[in-house]
Amino acid sequence: MSESARVHELQQQLATLQERLMQAERLTAVGELASTTTHEFNNILMTIMNYAKMGLRHRDEATRTKALTRILEASERAAKITQTILGAVRNRSADREPTDLGQLVRDTLVLLERELSKYRIAVELQLQPSPHALANANQIQQVLLNLLINARQAMPHGGVLCVTVRPSDDGMVELIVRDSGCGIPPDVLPRIFDPFFSTKTGPDGSGRGGTGLGLSACRHIIEGHRGRIRVESTVGKGTAFCIRLPEAPSSNAAAIATPNMQVNNSASSSSRA
Ligand SMILES: Nc1ncnc2c1ncn2[C@@H]1O[C@H](COP(=O)(O)OP(=O)(O)OP(=O)(O)O)[C@@H](O)[C@H]1O
Ligand SMILES: [Mg+2]
Repeated sequence: MSESARVHELQQQLATLQERLMQAERLTAVGELASTTTHEFNNILMTIMNYAKMGLRHRDEATRTKALTRILEASERAAKITQTILGAVRNRSADREPTDLGQLVRDTLVLLERELSKYRIAVELQLQPSPHALANANQIQQVLLNLLINARQAMPHGGVLCVTVRPSDDGMVELIVRDSGCGIPPDVLPRIFDPFFSTKTGPDGSGRGGTGLGLSACRHIIEGHRGRIRVESTVGKGTAFCIRLPEAPSSNAAAIATPNMQVNNSASSSSRA
């Protein structure tokens, strides 16, 4: 076999091994999610069983209404968990393509426009001309939704939400979601990416939040893209999540002209995932 044929063969073997490694990584992430979910499901079933017993034992209407309300809440939480897992499994098979992150930001904000204005949140966009990212648009949209909903929930009395897309000098594209909300205390910060970690007591007035799966799903997705997600937060000032995704090979800069608007948020504590 000639030297160049041998090199070619080795390159093909390497590509096959890389593909298998990526498949294994995807399965590990799903497996990890599934095992933590099983524990959480068990907790939910215990809650449902205990409140059902309480409802059967006590015949007065007030107790029964309370028991049924708790059972409904627990079941809704269980349904949300299965949706999240199914979404994660389904999306994992999808391919990555050159993706215009600025356009994805605009499309995703359309979905939340009503909700954001209801909570008096002003949106500032800093979408700089940037190369396309090599990404699965569905998955990144899921990440964006999770971050935007968290940001909205951190600003219950209104505030400013700033979304930035910009090139970075090392072959990555940056996507930053910054809010002027409550911030995250330094002792909580290292735990926010843990599955089922939540400081929310349950779904809010818009039926969102409280499962503690949002950021752990974000981390799985971003790491699956060989990207990075990082958070900086100051209590009382706000929080910024910064995502870096690999540029698509030979991508052209997307000409997205936008005014540069600045939101002043200093960040003192930070945590990386
Ligand atoms: N922008 C933010 N500002 C302040 N705290 C935040 C922000 N984003 C996340 N957090 C904190 O991190 C925790 C975990 O977030 P995560 O999105 O994983 O779960 P959740 O929002 O509580 O529930 P859900 O599964 O519905 O997303 C939150 O409960 C909150 O304490
Ligand atoms: Mg969340």
